[in-house]
Amino acid sequence: MPLSRVENPCFLLFLFVFQAVFILILYRGGASGVLRGFVESRRVVDYSKSHDVYTNLSLLAPAGGTVLPYCSVHSPIAVGPLTITFDVLPSERMIIQKNPFVQSGGRYRPPHCLARYKSAILVAYSNQEKYLHQLLYYIHPFLQRQQLSYRIYLIQQVGNGTFNRAKLLNVGVREALKDEDWDCLLLHDVNLVPENDYNLYVCDEYYPKHIASAMDKFQYNLPYKSFFGGVSALTPEHYMKMNGFPNTYWGDGGEDDDIATRIQLAGMRIVRTPLQLGRYKVMDYNRETETEEPRRRPASRHNTGKTWKDDGMNSLEFKLLSRTKHPLYTNITVDIGYVPPFS
Ligand code: BGC
Repeated sequence: MPLSRVENPCFLLFLFVFQAVFILILYRGGASGVLRGFVESRRVVDYSKSHDVYTNLSLLAPAGGTVLPYCSVHSPIAVGPLTITFDVLPSERMIIQKNPFVQSGGRYRPPHCLARYKSAILVAYSNQEKYLHQLLYYIHPFLQRQQLSYRIYLIQQVGNGTFNRAKLLNVGVREALKDEDWDCLLLHDVNLVPENDYNLYVCDEYYPKHIASAMDKFQYNLPYKSFFGGVSALTPEHYMKMNGFPNTYWGDGGEDDDIATRIQLAGMRIVRTPLQLGRYKVMDYNRETETEEPRRRPASRHNTGKTWKDDGMNSLEFKLLSRTKHPLYTNITVDIGYVPPFS
């Protein structure tokens, strides 16, 4: 006996596809919306067509009237892939001139609308002026095009001893939260520059977010599955839930692996910016010596399972030496106590 139409698998499949397309059209606000969406998403990740990082910034102007409207959810001035080169070193004067709405201390609020998110950008820093200028040149317009309310903090360790990135970030978080109730803490290496302004510097509501998922130095891929290095975004709640970062990692590397372990131990997981958006240019990495495959350093070496509850924000000690507002950032200089000599 021939199958009735309703029993025919081809007919059922047709019905399913038809319904799915219909729902998509409704959701996207009409057939042209669907088409625009596809064209748009291609444009956003087509790195062969990149834009100057200052594109559209001249469109920013203070809105008339006393009550600012909320900024639109999707920024109308974002452009996607950005042209990043480190051939010319931008001067501080030039960066200031190009960012007229950035206020003292590297503070910015959109002049035309009320920002939906407030992000503190925290950079652990150690005399890398060249990197700093490049970062500031690229990051200010990047953040402004995302319509964020933000401030850039530099946290410097006094003296020439071994660097302690994680402890400096703990200091940065403690100090930044004295200024404002930030929605999101962006922990940012000084030598990384984002390549796409659709890579939003906002937090995930539920879990810590790893943002620098695709660095050029790792062929735009994750070097290993649990990688948490470079740039990450945590809400103050995430940060406190894991007792912040460890204070006891000295020198290069390892602390980010510890942080990834702490996230799990605190009952959270890592979410990640998709590789197509989380692309970064790394300044000055050594192509010859950095060919070795990076590996996660096991947390067992540091006994993280036992130490994380006692080593972190609840044991943080430092002496604040100065806090100064520069035109493009706020500088915090600290004495973090005993620093082992370079080994
Ligand atoms: C280190 C990390 C570092 C990664 C990539 C790992 O071996 O433990 O701290 O981020 O390599 O360089």
